[in-house]
Amino acid sequence: MCAYLSPSTVVQPLIHRWYAVPFVAAPHTGALNLTKRHLPALRSYLKGPERHARALSNPDMFGAPFIDPGPAGPAGIAELLERTLATGEPRVRMAEDIDAGRTMLRKLGDGRGLAGLYGELPQSLRGLTELVYDTGNNPCLRFFESLVYRSAAAQPEAQVVSLLERHDPEQPFVYSSPILPNGPGRTDLEVPFCSELLDELFAARLHSVDVEELADRFGLDGARREGFRRLFTEEEPRRYQPNLTGEVRMRFFGHASVVLDFGGFTVMTDPTLGYDGDGFEQHYSIADLPETIDVVVLSHGHSDHFSLETLLQLRRRIGTIVVPQCSGGSLADIGLRVMLEHYGFTNVVELGDMQSLETGPAKITALPFLGEHGELDIRAKMVPMVRLGGRGFLFATDTSPVDPTIYDLVAEEIGTIDALFIGLECVGAPMSWLYGPLLEAPLAREHSEDRALKGSFAAPADRLAEQLGARQIFVYALGIEPWLKHLTGCRYDPEAEQLKQEVILRDLAGARDVKSELLYVTAERFWPVGDARVTV
Ligand SMILES: [Fe+2]
Ligand SMILES: [Fe+2]
Repeated sequence: MCAYLSPSTVVQPLIHRWYAVPFVAAPHTGALNLTKRHLPALRSYLKGPERHARALSNPDMFGAPFIDPGPAGPAGIAELLERTLATGEPRVRMAEDIDAGRTMLRKLGDGRGLAGLYGELPQSLRGLTELVYDTGNNPCLRFFESLVYRSAAAQPEAQVVSLLERHDPEQPFVYSSPILPNGPGRTDLEVPFCSELLDELFAARLHSVDVEELADRFGLDGARREGFRRLFTEEEPRRYQPNLTGEVRMRFFGHASVVLDFGGFTVMTDPTLGYDGDGFEQHYSIADLPETIDVVVLSHGHSDHFSLETLLQLRRRIGTIVVPQCSGGSLADIGLRVMLEHYGFTNVVELGDMQSLETGPAKITALPFLGEHGELDIRAKMVPMVRLGGRGFLFATDTSPVDPTIYDLVAEEIGTIDALFIGLECVGAPMSWLYGPLLEAPLAREHSEDRALKGSFAAPADRLAEQLGARQIFVYALGIEPWLKHLTGCRYDPEAEQLKQEVILRDLAGARDVKSELLYVTAERFWPVGDARVTV
């Protein structure tokens, strides 16, 4: 049978059955997440499954750290714990060694030369790290990330690409619950993420394939082969219509995913996409993309902006992927380029602050991104400025303009913009929620809350729009799309502070004759070609 991969088929990359968010996908941070988040969660569940079930029976607890095992029940979690302890040893060892290495450095790195301490390093860290001081004389481990991906902790054998016939609106929050095998409609492909076979599978979204032959090549038989067949359809896929209006077209795909199209040249930001038939039809899906996306720009490494789920499916359809440059080697500031390259991408360009890339008619400039990272020294974040068709679009995502003077300096250089896209995630999760497993010692609760991963309020967002002369504001990236709630952990709450701030921003901007609107479901806007002399 020749058929297409159905636009409803969901693709979930997993490592040790946990959804591969960036901090799980990088081996060293994945190791720490395994021992400090996932294994304790499995043990906690097995100690009191009723407590987890009780907590999750309250819909307000969606997103809280409780496990929903689905139909596999406690037996499925017990089996996963046992299997992880048996197969996860390289990551468990690396996590223990990172702890031991940091303890040793804390004890012996008192300002003396560190060369003599390499012999004290645990074996799994040898060759992967340099021992250094920061300028405050604090000793630390600096990782050679490209070598870390070549270490035993990379664990390609623990990677699974799990396919689901259709999005499950009841899917638990992926940070809190593992995705267990053999669920209804689920077929697992036991291949590493870098496998070129996956590219052949994903090409079948647009070009029909011989399903039986592909099943053979994945080594599928029995029930898994049956399940695999059900992921395909003979129905012709929708064909993308390039924008040949002579104007610049913007289509909103949900959360922070935006596609700009000018004469068929496309630039996409932060692709985190939904699927057809997911029960929420009011959004563009993965089936609404062009065959080739000329440029994909990733603003930062948070999982709602850097989605391996979407990126892997588009791996051979993207011209250039633009990512922010990291500082290299710290546990918090993981490299996005090195990760993508390890997972089979060959077209990644890094931009440092104020660096630009010109490609086709587009110019992408990486502006500084302030805040939203718990005050950790994380450089792998940028506010992409996209010039296309003589227009300027600024994707401020989760930035928090805590020091607005930065944008005075930026405005001098970039000139005015046409549209500001900004999230108003002014509440944010406590810092430890995301970064806790990486910390050497737990952070006091009040400090973790004080350093919450929060974006802008309305007033600074309006000020930013004014500084940059934006004629239009789009509020987006609030995580309120119900089809993405298993990824964002957010439930739509019309009383939420973020939505109140959206109304405030509408009023503030309106008072200046600037329109502000919330992007949430399908949206399409056009701009006539602008003054081509305005360039970054
Ligand atoms: Fe973020
Ligand atoms: Fe975000």
